[in-house]
Amino acid sequence: MWLLSTVWLLATVSCMATPPQPGVQDQTSWQRSRFQRAEEDGMSQSTAVSSVLEQRLGSSEMRQELLHCGVEASVASLPARLLAERLRAEIAVSEVMSGFTASRFQAFEPSMSVHEGKRGLPQFESQWEVGVRNNYTWNSSFWWPIMDDVETKLYGLRHFKTRGAPESELEARERSPYFAVNLYKVDAGSLLYGDVSVVMSTRLGMDTVLASAVDTGGWTGMCNRTERSSAVAASASMWGFGVNCSAYGDKRTGLSTLRHVDHLLLQNDGYWQNKTLQRLMCRVLSPWGKFPLVGADLIHYWEAMPLARLPYPSAIKFVIGSFPGLFGTKSGQELQSWCQERGWVLMWSLGFNLEEYDMSRLQFWSAPSWTQPLAFDQRLADPVVLANSTAGSNMSATITGASTSVFTEAWRRVQDLRLQTARQNISVSNSSWALEWMKLTDSLSIELSLEPLRAGACSDTDACVGTTPTGHCICYGAKQDAMVIGTSDASSAVFI
Ligand SMILES: *[C@@H]1O[C@H](CO)[C@@H](O)[C@H](O)[C@H]1NC(C)=O
Ligand SMILES: *[C@@H]1O[C@H](CO)[C@@H](O)[C@H](O)[C@H]1NC(C)=O
Ligand SMILES: *[C@@H]1O[C@H](CO)[C@@H](O)[C@H](O)[C@H]1NC(C)=O
Ligand SMILES: *[C@@H]1O[C@H](CO)[C@@H](O)[C@H](O)[C@H]1NC(C)=O
Ligand SMILES: *[C@@H]1O[C@H](CO)[C@@H](O)[C@H](O)[C@H]1NC(C)=O
Ligand SMILES: *[C@@H]1O[C@H](CO)[C@@H](O)[C@H](O)[C@H]1NC(C)=O
Ligand SMILES: *[C@@H]1O[C@H](CO)[C@@H](O)[C@H](O)[C@H]1NC(C)=O
Ligand SMILES: *[C@@H]1O[C@H](CO)[C@@H](O)[C@H](O)[C@H]1NC(C)=O
Ligand SMILES: *[C@@H]1O[C@H](CO)[C@@H](O)[C@H](O)[C@H]1NC(C)=O
Repeated sequence: MWLLSTVWLLATVSCMATPPQPGVQDQTSWQRSRFQRAEEDGMSQSTAVSSVLEQRLGSSEMRQELLHCGVEASVASLPARLLAERLRAEIAVSEVMSGFTASRFQAFEPSMSVHEGKRGLPQFESQWEVGVRNNYTWNSSFWWPIMDDVETKLYGLRHFKTRGAPESELEARERSPYFAVNLYKVDAGSLLYGDVSVVMSTRLGMDTVLASAVDTGGWTGMCNRTERSSAVAASASMWGFGVNCSAYGDKRTGLSTLRHVDHLLLQNDGYWQNKTLQRLMCRVLSPWGKFPLVGADLIHYWEAMPLARLPYPSAIKFVIGSFPGLFGTKSGQELQSWCQERGWVLMWSLGFNLEEYDMSRLQFWSAPSWTQPLAFDQRLADPVVLANSTAGSNMSATITGASTSVFTEAWRRVQDLRLQTARQNISVSNSSWALEWMKLTDSLSIELSLEPLRAGACSDTDACVGTTPTGHCICYGAKQDAMVIGTSDASSAVFI
C-alpha cells in the first residue's frame, strides 16, 4: 500500500494538468488497464476522423439546419473548427446518468432501487452485484448470458467463471452498472429506465467511463443477426428504427472514453441514418428547451460503463426524481431521505407527461413511436433536501421556512390527489400533473428552477449541478465530500 500511494503521489505531481485519478481502492488493475487501452484506441480513432467531423459541422447543409432550428446566426456561422469545439465542450459537461425504478426489485429481476441504495453496499451497484448479494439464481431469463456476452466480447470486460452467472461479489464487482450520456440535456435524465436517475461525478466519468456510440442492447437486437433473426431487424426498421449496423462496426471500434469523442459522434450519426448530429447541434446550441425533442431522440444516447467502484457519496453528483412518478408518494419520501443522508441535491422533473402513454409503457423499443415534440426542460431543486446539502449553503435567501412549507403543502396536496384518483380507479391526468407542477414552481423562488450545466457556465464543473434563471451556479461547498474522488470509507475493501 505504501508503495502504491507513493507512486500515486509522484504521478499526481509529475503531471499537474491531468485531473486526479480514481483511488486505487476503487479500480481493479484489470479495470485500469482496460480503461487505458480504451483511452489510447479512442484517441487514435477520434483524431483520425476529426477533420471529417469538422467538415460535417461546417457544411452548408448543417449551417442551414442550425439556422432553421433556431440557433443564433452568429453561432451557426462560426468556423467549422469552433463549431466542433463548442460541441465537444458541451459533451464534456454532459450528465452521465443511470435510471432505475425507486421501488424494490422483484425476485425475477435484480436491479438498483432506493431501498438497495439505502440499505445495500455504500456504492452504486450493477445488476450482477445486486443479484449476487441477494442470492439470485441467474437461470430465469434468457437475457443474462446475452448481456454477459455484450460486456465481455464488446466492452472487453473480464469473464465470469460461468457465462451469465457470477458466483461471487468479487466477480460481479468488475462489471459495471449501465449509464447513458445525457447528450440532449433531458430534464428527467434516463427516463426510459425508471423514475429515478443518478448523475455521476463529472470527473469520475472522464476518468473511468468506457462509452459506446450506441446502446448495446439495441445493437444486439437489431445488428447481431446471429443472435436475433433478420426478421427482428426487418421489423425494427419497419417501426422506424432504420439503423445502419455497419456504421457501428465491430471489434470494439464503437468505443472510447469521454475525452476522445469525435468518432462516437460520427458513428452514432451513421448508425441512426444521418439524423443525430444535426439534432444534437440544434439541442445544445440553442437555449434549453427551445429545440423540443421526440421519442427517438431519447434512444440516441451513448451508453456508458464506468470501470470503477462508485462509492457514496462521492461518485454521485446529484439525483433526479420523476414528479408524476414519485412526488407525494412513500417511495418519493424514501428518495428524499436517501439524498438527505448522503448530502446530494435532489431535483424533481416533470419530464415525459403525455396522456396516452403511461410511464410503465415507456421504454427503448416504444420510444420512437412518440412523435409529439416535448421541451423536456423542467427541473426543480427540492428545497427540503437542499437544506441538508452544502449546495444549499449559499442559497439561504431561497431556502427559507416559507419555501419548505410551500413544498410540504404541495406534497400533501399531491398525496390527496393520488388517493382520490386511486379510489375512483383512474389515473391522474397529464393536465393535472402539469397544473400541480405549475402551482408548485410558481409558489417557489425561481432560483430553484435549475438548468443543466452548459460549457463554461460555472467555473467548477465538477462541483456545480446546474444554473438558476438569473445565471447563478448551484454548487457544492469546497469541502463537500460528494465531490472528492476516490474517498474510501470503512466498508470499502482494498481491492487491486
Ligand atoms: C444469501 O444466502 C446466504 C447463505 O445461504 C445467507 O446467509 C444470506 O442471508 C442470504 N441473503 C439474502 C439477501 O437472502
Ligand atoms: C433456478 O435455480 C434454482 C436453484 O437451483 C431452482 O430452484 C429453480 O427452479 C431454477 N429456475 C428455473 C426457471 O430453472
Ligand atoms: C452475437 O450473437 C452470437 C450468436 O448468438 C453470440 O454468440 C455472440 O456472443 C453475440 N455477440 C455479442 C457481442 O454479444
Ligand atoms: C452504412 O455505414 C457504412 C459504414 O460507415 C457506410 O459505408 C455505408 O455507406 C452506410 N450505408 C448507408 C445506407 O448509409
Ligand atoms: C448518410 O451520409 C452518407 C455520407 O454523406 C451517405 O453516403 C449515406 O448515403 C447517407 N445515408 C442516408 C440513409 O441518408
Ligand atoms: C444530513 O446530512 C448529514 C451529513 O451528511 C447526516 O448526518 C444527516 O443524517 C442528514 N440529515 C438527514 C435528515 O438525513
Ligand atoms: C396531455 O397529453 C396529450 C396527448 O398525449 C397532449 O396533447 C397534451 O398536450 C398533454 N397536456 C399537457 C398539459 O401536457
Ligand atoms: C380498475 O380499472 C381497471 C382498468 O382500467 C380494471 O381492469 C379493474 O378491474 C378496475 N378495478 C376495479 C376495482 O374496479
Ligand atoms: C454559490 O456559490 C458559487 C460558488 O462560489 C457561485 O458560483 C454561485 O453563484 C453562488 N450561488 C448563489 C445563488 O449565490
